Amino acid sequence: LGTWGPVGAQALISQAGPAQLAVPALPSILAPAANPAQPIGDSIFPALGQAGLDVRHYDLSLQVDQPGTLGLRVGAVLTLAATRPLEQVSLDFLGPAVQEVRWNGQAVAWQQDRAAGKLRITPAAALQPGRTAQLSVRYAGQAGTRRDPELNLSLGWQGVPAGPSQPAANYTFSEPDGARTFLPVNDHPSDPATFTTRITVPRGYVAAASGVLRAEEAVPGGRVFTFEQAQPIPAYALAIHVNQFQTVQAPAVPVGVGGAGVQRRDYFPPAADGTIRAPYLRLGDMLGVLSGWFGPFPFAAHGAAVISPRVPALETATLMTMPLASSFERVIVHETAHQWFGDRVVLGDWADVWLNEGFATYAELLWLESRGENGASVVAAWYERVRDQATRPLVARREGELFDTSAYVRGALALHALRSAVGDDAFRRFLRAYVAQFSTRPVRTADLLAFTRQELGPVAQTVLRVWVESPTLPPLPVLARPAA
Ligand code: ARG
Ligand code: ZN
Repeated sequence: LGTWGPVGAQALISQAGPAQLAVPALPSILAPAANPAQPIGDSIFPALGQAGLDVRHYDLSLQVDQPGTLGLRVGAVLTLAATRPLEQVSLDFLGPAVQEVRWNGQAVAWQQDRAAGKLRITPAAALQPGRTAQLSVRYAGQAGTRRDPELNLSLGWQGVPAGPSQPAANYTFSEPDGARTFLPVNDHPSDPATFTTRITVPRGYVAAASGVLRAEEAVPGGRVFTFEQAQPIPAYALAIHVNQFQTVQAPAVPVGVGGAGVQRRDYFPPAADGTIRAPYLRLGDMLGVLSGWFGPFPFAAHGAAVISPRVPALETATLMTMPLASSFERVIVHETAHQWFGDRVVLGDWADVWLNEGFATYAELLWLESRGENGASVVAAWYERVRDQATRPLVARREGELFDTSAYVRGALALHALRSAVGDDAFRRFLRAYVAQFSTRPVRTADLLAFTRQELGPVAQTVLRVWVESPTLPPLPVLARPAA
């Protein structure tokens, strides 16, 4: 849970001294057997992550010697905590051969299980709640691959060969579980963490990553760029780019907590002409409109890294991954809304991904309304779209449903039904309260329903619940009051 793990009460238990000395022996019935590490228990991806493991911070030093290839040299230092005693740490990892692992600077037993996609470390003594450990891992070689069944794409670390108007480049496209192709990671959104990302690139290249640029230095043959992502994010939301970018700064936007400025910077590749760049000029306005509905922007910076490959756009934190072909206002608003819904409010289970996609899709309507467009026609178009497709209850049952029309469009209509039932003022208060409430713990659909009842009452809960659970498509919601 990033920096917010439930460490309070448990921290007291092991304050007596070093955990290694203070722990009483476990009753043998509880003693871990050969495979003590349990996965998190995600209903779509049951093997991902480790229950009880809380990675607080990833400090990554990546060296990219040949942009466009999958070759990497990496030193990763993870700050680990635990919410239960862990005899073994089991990280998701599909990356290249591990060369060295150290635990608090000392040699430690480890095993890279390529078939299972796990890197297992067995420290001399269990990691105890209330304690932290520094785990360093060094590896080099080709990043791993994780084929996405829906997209014709391998998730995770991407190599883009040089083309007629594009230099060789690299970027990350990790949602849902591709971060493990280049990083040993507790690869589940319910364990967000902070990141320091240091990227060494050859001369002529620029590196960009989620967070704020902290340092840029020349080294023999190239440059090192260091980024600090100081708010926890899921690993899939970490952007890393190596490209021949032009960096464009814009004035900070006063939409942070307490009106603090949010840095604005976009990264454009050589192929991005004025038409591609134009909609990003409106990003400051978008931040203004969305923060009016959702509350302060949750991160210190925001902007886009524009890329050439025709992949979906992705809501990587503070630095949206924006294909040239997706550089439109509506997509930019969508990925910006995900900064609140997905990147800050994180999922407890991948089955609940409509909580990301439905809210981000609904933000498109909120933006269009603010521009004076007819919201009712957008809603009618959504309804047509979802009526033409097989619809389903919103909690996904299998991987193929995660990013389907129901998640995006039925999810958005569910929120529209709720807004129509309670009116704009109550809806706005509700959205802000939801973000505040679930910024400190992962959210599931049942949590949203319970929170709706608590904030808006049983009738509103029932309205939403019908949209969440009905096997058929509920009737088109009608906004109670005219659009402002
Ligand atoms: N979350 C992305 C969006 O903004 C879509 C990602 C699709 N990813 C995937 N593996 N199918 O809508
Ligand atoms: Zn989305």
